[in-house]
Amino acid sequence: MANTKLIAGNWKMNGLSTDGLSRAKHIADFATKNKSDLNGKADILLAPPATLISALHDVTKPSPVFLGGQDCHPETSGAFTGDLSAEMLKDAGCSYIITGHSERRAIHGETDELVSAKTAATHRAGMTAVVCVGETAVQRQAGEAEKTVKTQITQSLPDTILAGNTVIAYEPVWAIGTGLTATIEDIEAMHGFIRNLLEKSFPVIATTHLLYGGSVKGANAAQILSCANVDGVLVGGASLNGQEFCDIIAAAL
Ligand code: 13P
Repeated sequence: MANTKLIAGNWKMNGLSTDGLSRAKHIADFATKNKSDLNGKADILLAPPATLISALHDVTKPSPVFLGGQDCHPETSGAFTGDLSAEMLKDAGCSYIITGHSERRAIHGETDELVSAKTAATHRAGMTAVVCVGETAVQRQAGEAEKTVKTQITQSLPDTILAGNTVIAYEPVWAIGTGLTATIEDIEAMHGFIRNLLEKSFPVIATTHLLYGGSVKGANAAQILSCANVDGVLVGGASLNGQEFCDIIAAAL
């Protein structure tokens, strides 16, 4: 289990330069002001839409806030209209890339094989991948939550994983954007299951950060962050409010 919590905000397809920059500034100012408290306790990651990365980099560079992409193409460059490579995201100021988010798996039909290639591309560019996994409501009701997550992890991790370059985010699909948070018991059970799986099958990342995502907000962050094997959170909706995201960061301190 990692000592330093990772508090990550995934802005998804939200944010224009006006609101995005002022929100990032609010968070960067909070992080700068609380730098000594954050040290060794919490790292902060913002994954804005790609259009805002460079501008946010200017705002967050002097602060202890890292930037991440929300997706990347497996190739370095080429005729892939509309896509961005991991190297481009690094060049714009990112040090993390989210891969395999359930919205990309569901809406863009991304397979575990493609997620693995994108994760390897993230590593090739010298960045950390936040690999997302999680079962749907139907899979959970069928008693297949663990089996689903095990398959996703096993098939989405490339052989480029190393200590320090891979984070796993467990985001049950039914908890994303619904206001329904998994129970503390469900979170601890699944995170314990993932930790065991990593220890057995991927020992090189056995102690990596395991994030929980799905309707995390200021009011429930402290309880979720205190769960066994929860080393941080991946926040969607609540990360669009600068003050609420700072409240979530404060819950880790
Ligand atoms: P919500 O926090 O809006 O449920 O989204 C979670 C998520 O998908 C983060 O990647």
